[in-house]
Amino acid sequence: MASPLIKLNDGNSIPQVGLGVFQTPPDDTVRAVATALDAGYRHVDTASIYGNEAEVGEALVESGIARDDVFITTKLWNADQGYDSTLAAFDASLQRLGIDRLDLYLIHWPTPAKNTFVETFKAFAHLHDQGRISSIGGSNFEPEHLRILIDATGIVPAVNQVELNPRLQQEELREAHAQLGIATEAWAPLGQGALLDDPTVTAVADAYGKTPAQVLIRWHIQLGNIVIPKSVTPERIVSNFDVFDFELTEQDMSSISSLGDGTRLGPDPRTFN
Ligand SMILES: NC(=O)c1ccc[n+]([C@@H]2O[C@H](COP(=O)([O-])OP(=O)(O)OC[C@H]3O[C@@H](n4cnc5c(N)ncnc54)[C@H](OP(=O)(O)O)[C@@H]3O)[C@@H](O)[C@H]2O)c1
Repeated sequence: MASPLIKLNDGNSIPQVGLGVFQTPPDDTVRAVATALDAGYRHVDTASIYGNEAEVGEALVESGIARDDVFITTKLWNADQGYDSTLAAFDASLQRLGIDRLDLYLIHWPTPAKNTFVETFKAFAHLHDQGRISSIGGSNFEPEHLRILIDATGIVPAVNQVELNPRLQQEELREAHAQLGIATEAWAPLGQGALLDDPTVTAVADAYGKTPAQVLIRWHIQLGNIVIPKSVTPERIVSNFDVFDFELTEQDMSSISSLGDGTRLGPDPRTFN
């Protein structure tokens, strides 16, 4: 079955479930992405800092699937922020990916102390105007960073990709996204594996005859999040996409949501530079 699509504020659509490749070693990336494409995924989330853009592109070519049928996201690394350096980094990413148009480009972190995310986003807007990027957005942006960006450029990012899972539910950000029309994309959707043996999650999974990962991915889908679980393990890649034939009840959604305790796995975006 195909992933549902989420409509973005620029008119484009993104498949709601994609494959993340953070910490997927380059040597494993072609196989992981090929497995995903074969299972029906049409969305891959990489970043220049992951060091596997070339392998993502290689898998895409080897799959024989038309370029326009697969949604590719990559991210601009912190050291490349700034107008001219962004244009150069974008060219390098595109060359590694072996494509001539990117679906979604994200500023990986706001790095507020550097104060360069506005000029970086202006370069994104320029590339968007040229038709070289279909959608532009941020990652790890807090509400105040979104407001600065929008006030300075008049452009509302299409997507903000943030750490989000039942432990860190990002209520304030999701509310800001809803008001601004920004799609919420969840990284570490499985808590980087840490949530998979939580007794609340395993109890719900047992009740549906599903895996804990499938139940967590459903929780994201039903909240309306774009979700990009990562795995290098073929059976997991396949089963993580087999999530479109069941629905969690309100009660089970609430029981998973009761796990919220604010645990953050990654750095704090307000201080990470
Ligand atoms: N924007 C950002 O700053 C940022 C930061 C981090 C991540 N991301 C993006 O978000 C994606 C997902 O986040 P993440 O990789 O940090 O964490 P995640 O998807 O929450 O968890 C990945 C971990 O869960 C394991 N796993 C996956 N499916 C499983 C299953 N069905 N059963 C058991 N274990 C399973 C994986 O193991 P195996 O691989 O060994 O199977 C891996 O250890 C990343 O790949 C990346 O694309 C973005």
